[in-house]
Amino acid sequence: MDQTDGTSSAQQRWFADRYAANARFVSDLAEPLIEILAPGRDEVILDLGCGDGALTKLLVDAGARAIGVDASIDQIIACRKLGIPSAVMDGHNLAFNEAFNAILTNAALHWMTSPDDVIDGIWNALKPGGRVVGEMGGAGNIASIISALTRALTKRNLQDKVVSPWYFPEEADYRRRLENRGFIVDSMELIPRPTPLPGAITAWLDTFGEQFLFIIPEIDRSAFKEEVAKDLEPDLLDPNGQWVADYVRLRFSATRPEKA
Ligand code: BEZ
Repeated sequence: MDQTDGTSSAQQRWFADRYAANARFVSDLAEPLIEILAPGRDEVILDLGCGDGALTKLLVDAGARAIGVDASIDQIIACRKLGIPSAVMDGHNLAFNEAFNAILTNAALHWMTSPDDVIDGIWNALKPGGRVVGEMGGAGNIASIISALTRALTKRNLQDKVVSPWYFPEEADYRRRLENRGFIVDSMELIPRPTPLPGAITAWLDTFGEQFLFIIPEIDRSAFKEEVAKDLEPDLLDPNGQWVADYVRLRFSATRPEKA
């Protein structure tokens, strides 16, 4: 189900309330990125895939002039409620020209399946000398979950009907793409990060796996999710009843040189 052909994840929807309930850990775990970015006072910074603005707000609190973009209108409404200037924008088509000192991006790039278009937009959005700091799902991310979903789909002979909405690159792949565009890669690290979930794996599937759930007739959807959960229990449910997702992050920082 790996693909980088630009097929959009049009069926995945983001509801700010559901995201806050089931995915707050996503921004909480990314706070080290702010330290790496080290936002300077009055620096103009873009949060690419800002979600509900939780991280963007930390940039603002640090004194930066931060704005957010996200493909989800619901998330942008939540972001604006925090008073953060933000706009609905597809990361494949960033509409900025040498506007930012820095770009921060967390848990967003893996939803963008044409990475070279995104990297090109990042390059254009940065001023010469600007930097990008990011974290995304990397190679092996949620491998157990993908396998269990694939098994449940295969049982229904639907395995070819879902195009993966995710791009989880190897270090070498992403480094090559950045360098091909002209970036200096300052750091790049694949980090296994088993991540405790705030609820059951079925809630994770509801929040992040809609692309897989939509093709299951509604009458079978609960059974489908329970089947996936049962399959995952040996790997992801710990003895205390805590679900722990098999996340792997690709964390990187890169600079657009002063002179290309
Ligand atoms: C992630 O943050 O790694 C992720 C979230 C949802 C779906 C897939 C991956």
